[in-house]
Amino acid sequence: MTRAYISGTGFYVPERVVTNAELATLMNTSDEWITARTGIKTRHFAAPEEGTIDLAVPAVEQALEAAALTVGDIDFIIFATSSPDHYAPGSGCFLQDRMGFGEIGALDIRVQCSGFVYGVSIADQYIRTGSFRNVLVIGAELQSTNLNMTDEGRDVSVIFGDGAGAVVLSATEEDRGILSTHLHSEGKHAKHLWLEAASSYTQPRFNKEDIDAGRHWLQMDGREVFRHAVVRFPEVIREALEANDIALDQVQLIIPHQANLRISNEVARRLGAPSDLLYSNIQRYGNTTAASIPIALAEALREDKIAPGDYVVLAAFGSGFTWAAALIKW
Ligand code: COA
Repeated sequence: MTRAYISGTGFYVPERVVTNAELATLMNTSDEWITARTGIKTRHFAAPEEGTIDLAVPAVEQALEAAALTVGDIDFIIFATSSPDHYAPGSGCFLQDRMGFGEIGALDIRVQCSGFVYGVSIADQYIRTGSFRNVLVIGAELQSTNLNMTDEGRDVSVIFGDGAGAVVLSATEEDRGILSTHLHSEGKHAKHLWLEAASSYTQPRFNKEDIDAGRHWLQMDGREVFRHAVVRFPEVIREALEANDIALDQVQLIIPHQANLRISNEVARRLGAPSDLLYSNIQRYGNTTAASIPIALAEALREDKIAPGDYVVLAAFGSGFTWAAALIKW
C-alpha cells in the first residue's frame, strides 16, 4: 500500500519583528490586553519589497533540502494562501517560475486557516493513487499589508502576522505517513470572518465606495469565531483518532492552527489533554493563517518534539467556517 509521508519541512518569517508595544503606538491597545486575550507577544511583518512568494521560497528551499530532493523531483505544487501575490494567477504559478520548477501543475487553494491541512489532504490523495511521488505543499501569508492599524481594526490587526511554511509529501510503501485526513465546512458562518471586497457583486469590482466603507479589511466577530473553534477543534481531532482506532494518550503531539493561545488551551481542556500536548508558537509569530501549521511543524521537528513512530495530529479551524485534521504516523 502506498502512503504519503512528510519527507521535508521548512519555514521562513520576515526579519522585521513587531512588538505589541509598537502596535500600541498606532492604535488604542496594550501589551497586557493582547497578551491576556491572545497569548501573542510579537509577530513578523514583511518588508515593502517582499511579496507572498518571497516568504515561500526560503521555506521551500529548506523543505527540499531536508527531503534531499531538488526542484526536478517535484511533481506538483499546492499553494495555500488567503493573501496571494496577485488576484490572478495564483501564487503557485509565480513560485513555479521563480524557482524553476518544470511545467508541473500549480494549484492555489484558498481555505484560509484550514488551507494547509486541505492541501495535505489533496497531496495525500494524489500520492496514494500513484499519480505523483513528490508533492510540495506550501502555506504562505502576507497579511500585514491588509491590516487596519487603527482603533477600528484593532480586534483583528493585533492577531495576524506574516510567514511561510512548506513540506514535501513523498510516496512510501512503509507503515507510516498520513493515515487519514478529515475536511469540513459550514458556510452559513462565512460572514463571521470574511473579506468582503473586492467582490463579484460590485461593478466595477474594485471601487472607492468599498474602500471608504472599509469593506476591504478582514472583518471578524471574534466571539463567534472563538465559540465555534473550541468545539470544532476537539471534534475533528477526535474524528481523526477514532477513524484510526488511536487513543488520545497514544498521541505525542497535536499541532493546531495557531489562532489564539486561549483557544488552544481551551481545546486541550475539552480534550482532557495536558496543554503542552498542543504545540504553541503563536507567542512569537501571531496567527499566520495557512502558514501557521507548517511553521509550527517545522519548528517542532527542530526542537526534537517528534520522533519516528510518533502519532502527530494536525488540526485547523478558520474562516468559512472550515475545519480539518490529519493524523500522521511519523
Ligand atoms: N486592544 C484593546 N482593546 C480591544 C482590542 C485591542 N486590540 N480589540 C478589542 N478591544 C476591546 C473591545 O472594543 C471591547 O471593548 P468594550 O468592552 O469597551 O466594548 C473589549 O476589548 C472586549 O472585546 P471583545 O471582542 O468582547 O473581547 P474578547 O474577549 O472576545 O477578545 C478576541 C477578542 C478577538 C481576542 C477574541 O474574541 C478572540 O480571540 N476570538 C477568536 C479570534 C481568532 O482566533 N481569530 C482567528 C481565527 S482563525
